[in-house]
Amino acid sequence: MNILHIDCSPRAESHSRKLSAAIVERLVGMSPGATIHRRDLGADPVPHASADYATALSSPATLANPPEGSLELSEALIQEVEAADVIVIGTPMNNLTVPSNFKAWIDRILRAGRTFKSTPAGKVGLIRDRPVFVGIASGAIFAGDRANQPDFLRPYLSAVLTSIGLKTLQFLPIQATAFLDHDQAIMAREKALAMIDFSVVGVAS
Ligand SMILES: Cc1cc2nc3c(=O)[nH]c(=O)nc-3n(C[C@H](O)[C@H](O)[C@H](O)COP(=O)(O)O)c2cc1C
Repeated sequence: MNILHIDCSPRAESHSRKLSAAIVERLVGMSPGATIHRRDLGADPVPHASADYATALSSPATLANPPEGSLELSEALIQEVEAADVIVIGTPMNNLTVPSNFKAWIDRILRAGRTFKSTPAGKVGLIRDRPVFVGIASGAIFAGDRANQPDFLRPYLSAVLTSIGLKTLQFLPIQATAFLDHDQAIMAREKALAMIDFSVVGVAS
């Protein structure tokens, strides 16, 4: 099993990092020969869409004949996704949605003619589906009866990942991190882990 492990928090001691690490640990426990590829967007952000990249994506003609080197990073990041059997993401909620370093990665992954095709009915994904586990840490509450803010993160991420073909998504929240002490944080992480349906993952190594 090849695991692509992505983290987005800029903090080393982070709720979403601990959750994504715990998910990866469970997966490795299920498949001891698993390999882990790291993409740490918190520690090592990918650049926001550059002029060359934006030019390449600006029309079918420029996509067919892009500025030299403009698609290299996009291609490398897409190949990391394609090489994975399972994708594990740890992300904070920032201003009701994904943090900008995660958005910069998304902007390199969604590429017409490569990861999706445009049709009159909308985008059609060109990537093979595989399970994606998304651990989300939020300072306040965005899901459930006690939600006190809108949630643009899960609907947004569902829309973009589904549009390239990644449809087997599970969202695991750790909420109200601003108010959790050490033990409560551990309990919140265990609760999120208990929500996971690992049956979507093949266990062959
Ligand atoms: C710029 C910024 C924006 C934030 N926006 C929100 C928000 O909209 N809703 C929320 O519940 N928490 C928000 N938070 C709090 C984080 O989601 C929270 O601290 C979370 O635990 C961070 O993830 P981490 O522990 O993995 O670093 C924000 C934090 C930062 C730094």
